[in-house]
Amino acid sequence: MTDNTRAGAAIYLPLTLRFYDLVVHGLSNAYAWRCPEREFITLYDQNVSANHLDVGCGTGYLLDHCRFPVAAPQVTLADLNPNSLKWTSRRILRYHPKSYVAEILKPLPMTEQFNSIGLNYVLHCVPGNLKVKGVAFDYLKDRLRPGGMLFGSTIPNIGVNHNLAARTLMSIYGWIGAFNNKEDSVADLTSELSRRFTQVKVWTIGSVALFTACDSA
Ligand SMILES: C[S@@+](CC[C@H](N)C(=O)[O-])C[C@H]1O[C@@H](n2cnc3c(N)ncnc32)[C@H](O)[C@@H]1O
Repeated sequence: MTDNTRAGAAIYLPLTLRFYDLVVHGLSNAYAWRCPEREFITLYDQNVSANHLDVGCGTGYLLDHCRFPVAAPQVTLADLNPNSLKWTSRRILRYHPKSYVAEILKPLPMTEQFNSIGLNYVLHCVPGNLKVKGVAFDYLKDRLRPGGMLFGSTIPNIGVNHNLAARTLMSIYGWIGAFNNKEDSVADLTSELSRRFTQVKVWTIGSVALFTACDSA
């Protein structure tokens, strides 16, 4: 693992996780990234399954607020940072989640497969351009059951509309190593997903590129 990979996850300490929901899901999504919170909740509501893997779970905000299609879904968490795993596991204890320390540029450690995988706001933390990060889609696809859905979002530097607040936040996060999205583009996100999945949708809202990807059943 490179120092840059570690830096993309290192900021998620108990103290920062405490403020994450307010800063990211509250203020930044509304005023900097300009993608309303309901877009993420809808993305999750429409795509989570009864057997879901969430990669880069952070505080588990979306898992806590989305509607699963069954009352007792099987939820598995994977994250490079054990703080995020602990925080989310506690938050969604009602689902008895399993958790794994995992790095998305390497094969995932679990052997089971899932009907849905969420990858929200993770790719912009990971070093390299999206052609390099695309290898994560291979490893995630390995963990998807036939017909399963990969979905999520990321903040690319190129191909979306950034306002001044977004540019300022991206510079600060880039400087501290939390963001690694300088070379990320919507075009590369679309082509890397399309190389691996037959049905790909990528759309942008404000600074954010949202996506769903699956193979036809
Ligand atoms: C910005 S948070 C996103 C949290 C949540 N998905 C959300 O949408 O609010 C990024 C999460 O991805 C994790 N992460 C960063 N780089 C990673 C990597 N290379 N492999 C696995 N997880 C990573 C971080 O530890 C953190 O929990």
